[in-house]
Amino acid sequence: MLEQALQAARDQREQSQADLFELIRIPSVSALSEHDADCRRAAEWIAGRLTRAGMEVKLVDVPGEGSRHPVIAAEWTGAGPQAPTLAIYGHYDVQPPDPLEEWLSPPFEPSVRDGFVYARGSDDNKGQIACGIRAAELALAHGGPPVNLRFLIEGEEEVGGPSLPEFVKREAARLHTDYLLIADGQFTAPGLPNLLTGLRGLLYTEVEATGAAADLHSGIYGGVAPNPLNTLAHVISALKDRDGRITVPGFYDAVRKPEERELADWQRLPVTEDDQMQAMGVPALEGEAEFSPLERRWARPTLDVHGILGGFQGQGQKTVIPARAKAKISMRLVPDQDPDAIFDAFAEYVDSLSTPGVRVTARRLSSGRAVRTGTDHPGVEAAARAFESAYGGRPVLVREGGSIPVTVDFQEALRPHLLVTGFGLPGDALHSPNEKYSLDQYFRGIEMVLHLMENLRDAPRA
Ligand code: BES
Ligand code: MN
Repeated sequence: MLEQALQAARDQREQSQADLFELIRIPSVSALSEHDADCRRAAEWIAGRLTRAGMEVKLVDVPGEGSRHPVIAAEWTGAGPQAPTLAIYGHYDVQPPDPLEEWLSPPFEPSVRDGFVYARGSDDNKGQIACGIRAAELALAHGGPPVNLRFLIEGEEEVGGPSLPEFVKREAARLHTDYLLIADGQFTAPGLPNLLTGLRGLLYTEVEATGAAADLHSGIYGGVAPNPLNTLAHVISALKDRDGRITVPGFYDAVRKPEERELADWQRLPVTEDDQMQAMGVPALEGEAEFSPLERRWARPTLDVHGILGGFQGQGQKTVIPARAKAKISMRLVPDQDPDAIFDAFAEYVDSLSTPGVRVTARRLSSGRAVRTGTDHPGVEAAARAFESAYGGRPVLVREGGSIPVTVDFQEALRPHLLVTGFGLPGDALHSPNEKYSLDQYFRGIEMVLHLMENLRDAPRA
């Protein structure tokens, strides 16, 4: 299968590009309910492709509170019961595209400039699932891969939704997986692929401050009226000191240090502070000075405010003391922090920081633990050789700071050998305006997955 499928991949790049663009044009923003139908359309599009490729496909609306977007579960068992099963994970949902005015081309209209396709979801994660989908199509069209295939694709990754985690737990017995490819990250540097040894977890909260029963005239009542927006600003600024230390009691108690070996490896990476400043477009790095920037991004917990809501937002001025205010605040978690314990400590702490007449309450929107993946299994060499064949470079073993919440559920329910990686590049502007994805990385990613299938031919079962 391999040589023919690789040849077809090279001959059919136009088709691969057209397919990716079709998927990108569906604005599957999971956070915004006005896009629910688009999320379903994206799921149906993928299910259709996998069905046409010859896989047995189910589109599943997982019952349960909070489930909103369907899971796609597909399988092909044509390699026979002795062959290992390679599962491929991805998510079809994308982050909201705002701020719209900063996009140089419309977010859901793929636009190619300098070899990159610009669009929301082009890298995260449509361009990367498309590698798996195209590889499966091409492999199945040319004799079939030497491994059994499974796809598990969700539409709630960007909102920490429960559907796929629930599905994986419920159906574990029917989802046998030896190797699981999660391509939802990015190269460490151009030409330098990676296999991830860890991802951070995430605890996402909404903090609400409430004061008077209704908005008040700030001249009549100012001086005695509690102002929840002032209080919220006070609470937020107390959560972290100027050195980047988070002040929530007990926050660091369970934090496990990276191994000496990891820290030494990270120091040797060709990633400078300048590279990181340039990728973000900033003149300085912030954070805990006693830890290197990479350690801060990969192995230290954080606390960040994502948005503040409340009060007067219109043009000009309005003299009002708002009755309520809200902030979206999340914490990236590292091994072995427990999201439940951290949430309890956080909720108690924000309440304790309040001022007279204002109630401050924290609500948890989602949470997921950090993961360590384990990279001492035979799939690692198979993937390393696949990267080398497709991109000309072997992967480094590093961590990433982003979160893929379902990874922990895969690990616990299916016990697969994990291959967590990505085909994007640093600077692809994930979650930002003008997100982009290199078409060259995409085409090579398809070939990488084809090589991986071949390299796993005789790999032991998990
Ligand atoms: N693809 C990212 C995670 C990622 C980014 C992993 C870079 C490795 C390198 C993923 O889609 C993502 O953004 N996840 C969210 C999850 C959250 C909303 C629960 C995240 O990390 O913010
Ligand atoms: Mn993603």
